Amino acid sequence: MTPSPADLFRQTFAAEPAVVTAAPGRVNLIGEHTDYSALPVLPFAIDRRTAVAAAPLDAPRIEAVSEAFPVPASFRPGTPPAELLEPWHRYLAAAVSLLEPPPGAGARLAITSQLPPASGLSSSSALMVALVAALNAAWGLALTPEAIADLAARTERLAGAETGGMDQQVIAFARAGHLLRIDFLPPARRHIPVPPGWAFVVASSGQPAPKGGAAREAYNQRVVGTRVAAALLADMLGVGLEGTPLLGHVAGIDAAPVLVEELPERAAPRGIARSLGIPLEWLTALSSGAALDPDAPVPVRPFARHVLSEADRVDAACRAVESADLAALGRLLDASHASLRDDYRCSTPALDAVVAALRKAGAAGARLTGAGFGGFAVAACESGRESALVEAAIAAAGGPAFPVTPSDGALLE
Ligand code: GLA
Repeated sequence: MTPSPADLFRQTFAAEPAVVTAAPGRVNLIGEHTDYSALPVLPFAIDRRTAVAAAPLDAPRIEAVSEAFPVPASFRPGTPPAELLEPWHRYLAAAVSLLEPPPGAGARLAITSQLPPASGLSSSSALMVALVAALNAAWGLALTPEAIADLAARTERLAGAETGGMDQQVIAFARAGHLLRIDFLPPARRHIPVPPGWAFVVASSGQPAPKGGAAREAYNQRVVGTRVAAALLADMLGVGLEGTPLLGHVAGIDAAPVLVEELPERAAPRGIARSLGIPLEWLTALSSGAALDPDAPVPVRPFARHVLSEADRVDAACRAVESADLAALGRLLDASHASLRDDYRCSTPALDAVVAALRKAGAAGARLTGAGFGGFAVAACESGRESALVEAAIAAAGGPAFPVTPSDGALLE
């Protein structure tokens, strides 16, 4: 049983918390690896949450305990995240570094979670949204919900992976019974009701989806590969660039999907920046200050093919949901998985196996969800079939697997 965050706070600090916040995990139904290209996504928040109990402290210290991690945190606000050893301490320090605590103030925090860590269900983003919301209340910062979601997203990028803004927006603004279509260029959100009689199941591949190390490198390589593709396509299409090139800048142009096939299979960022006469940083700069090797070739054509086709699948999925066509949605989920496996190269044999098991057990469609390289798959099915899917997924990959219900976000107004 997960203890309540208020109980954990009382047990740890022998005091009452001043505020308790909670934020859900998320499942991305479709629109994978599109957000950092400023192309749409279609996620929903789930009925499992991370909660933070907090109280301000009259001393410049952050003291935190988490039910999920054994080593408590204790550091001064302003400590550079890289100076801390535990990854979750670094996340806390990154969030605190973006906030402005009242002079001389600190905070005590107790964290509990119903979300499996490193699963691809966004446990870290849920923690960041709940944490920033808790510190906002404890320190009286008067941040808007929009600012809280944005700060949580920037925290994630400071911690190393150059992610888009999908996770924090859906965690903040989702609505029960609805999917949330998020657009980035221009920014927009639309709640789309889930038709009656539809259900969703998530299933672990049995492999973790870590945010650090090789997975972070692989993620950032994809960010850079899509920027290289966007720069080359913008050049072919005569679109002027004013900064980081994004596939979202060229996606609406009719010729773009045809020109994708003329892109190089692989290219090194430095050579492309030189030949296009643009600053190398536009292609390689990361918020964390790290940079990928500019001379190492990255896949270009297959990455662009995935992202542009996935953006079209998001539009088609919205139409399928709005016309209550579960079979059509299922085909789009299957096509998304194939594209992620073959072109974006972020599936694993274990994810492919659990996706196949979900389909065989009666899913309308299934795909990996989140960044991939391990983690969870999501399936859509008719209500009543959830337990068959759960059993098949556990038999194939060992679990956990469970039905998920589209739920309210943390900051819904
Ligand atoms: C991670 C990131 C998101 C998104 C997905 C892939 O979850 O945090 O911003 O890029 O990967 O769709």
